[in-house]
Amino acid sequence: MKAILCTRFGLPDQLIYTETKNPVPKEDEVLIAVKACSVNFPDILIIQNKYQFKPELPFSPGGEVSGLVEAVGTKVKNLKKGQRVLALCGWGGFAEKVVVKADRIFPIPPDLDYLTAASTLYTFGTAYHALKDRAILQAGETLLVLGASGGVGLAAVELGKAMGAKVIAAASSAEKLAICQAKGADERINYEQENLKERIKEITEGKGVDVVLDVVGGKYAEPALRGMAWKGRYLVVGFAAGDIPQLPFNLVLLKGCAVMGVFWGRFSQEEPKKNQQNIMELLSMIQSGKISQHIHKVYDLESAPNALQELLDRKVMGKAIVKVGDWEEEKKAIQKSLSQNTKPIGSNASIPISFKTLGDLKKHVGQELGISSWTTVSQEVIQKFAETTDDFQWIHVDTEKAKALLPGGKNIAHGYLTLSLVPKLLVDLLPLEGIEMALNYGVNKVRFPAPVYSGDQVRLKARLINVEETNDGGFKLFIYAEMESRGSEKPVCVAELITLIR
Ligand SMILES: NC(=O)c1ccc[n+]([C@@H]2O[C@H](COP(=O)([O-])OP(=O)(O)OC[C@H]3O[C@@H](n4cnc5c(N)ncnc54)[C@H](OP(=O)(O)O)[C@@H]3O)[C@@H](O)[C@H]2O)c1
Repeated sequence: MKAILCTRFGLPDQLIYTETKNPVPKEDEVLIAVKACSVNFPDILIIQNKYQFKPELPFSPGGEVSGLVEAVGTKVKNLKKGQRVLALCGWGGFAEKVVVKADRIFPIPPDLDYLTAASTLYTFGTAYHALKDRAILQAGETLLVLGASGGVGLAAVELGKAMGAKVIAAASSAEKLAICQAKGADERINYEQENLKERIKEITEGKGVDVVLDVVGGKYAEPALRGMAWKGRYLVVGFAAGDIPQLPFNLVLLKGCAVMGVFWGRFSQEEPKKNQQNIMELLSMIQSGKISQHIHKVYDLESAPNALQELLDRKVMGKAIVKVGDWEEEKKAIQKSLSQNTKPIGSNASIPISFKTLGDLKKHVGQELGISSWTTVSQEVIQKFAETTDDFQWIHVDTEKAKALLPGGKNIAHGYLTLSLVPKLLVDLLPLEGIEMALNYGVNKVRFPAPVYSGDQVRLKARLINVEETNDGGFKLFIYAEMESRGSEKPVCVAELITLIR
């Protein structure tokens, strides 16, 4: 296979692109055909032998990949060949194949592309763990992010906003700050040109910030600490500037504040269940569009050292990604599955998409209405449904128990949740024009032949069974609705709907 190899410790220009032997998975490992590998700051440290993990030479850098499972070790039961996955490999990712321990691998939701998948966990995982588990950031609090346009920084800006905080982004140029603003930052500080401590004071009207997330260290740490509010939390995440700051302890006393370490890699090993829960929440936020990765540039495998050099030169905003393997095949497969997924049912591709008169509708009785687009039943949607209906059965809401006890380790959506999606999906299929009122009047013969798991995608097929006139000049539509889940042989919800329209 082709790989980028570190044969002696040094800067990115020492790395070589070469042919090397395919790795072989041990009994608890999985061989992944890499599709994408994101570029992270530790890749720069690891090739210089400055990182806490020290692989033996020669090795490939690249700690976070997405790809296809190619082979599994004899003890691996939860993953299979052909599955799309993302993995935290630590190193080895700038190569066509990598072996990873099974417990560091996560299946990719169907609608998540390889580039996004490979660039999500490390940055969002770290920022989320820092803000949620360490600082316990509250809505309404003020969050200052140093190095805000970098991988972890930009993720913290977005997550801070999603968690309801007021976010102040600090970075070294107007261009970098513009990206932070686009991601929702409320205030911006150019810490190369402005006085960090004074600007914090000005923006917070003297109160200071409640939480600082620091990935930079160096000369910015002390003014940031001086700009903290009473009982603030200072998150020590990284030292991209190189210098490990020495802070005066008296400031911590005077502010009654906490300086807390954030080590996501260790957290994921010490508290794997909590980490899993965070990952599920992040994937659900990505799927619902609440957060999204900013991709700076995509490099091919051979130019991976350039990507590392640009990161080192502070040129990367958001994430740099290395594309690996055969993307032409991948594109064909995606196109094939898209064309299959958007094909209307039956031979009714020419069905009029709107019905202007009762006559139009009557002519359509017995015919299919078509097929809706896919929609994802995320854990967030399941949680919201549980809250709305006050039904908190563990199979719906307890992600840790579901992981341990349910097949596939995922929560199951309430049957009535799928039924509740029917009217929304039906609008795609039955855009009635000139209608004063449409009312979902009732449902008949509801069945749920197969479960819907958290993260599954569903869509609706429908057929008009009958149209009846009512005494007040309106009419009742009887619609056969069948909801399918991507990859399930049986439908997940079948029902006969009665819709009253006037
Ligand atoms: N503790 C953990 O669990 C954990 C997890 C992930 C990452 N980290 C650490 O967090 C740090 C940031 O990681 P990242 O992936 O976000 O990196 P990144 O994308 O390169 O971002 C780092 C930011 O730091 C700023 N910076 C200031 N001085 C720099 C210098 N001399 N060289 C490079 N950047 C400099 C840059 O912004 P400006 O130009 O705007 O200043 C840059 O955007 C790294 O030290 C990494 O090891 C720690």
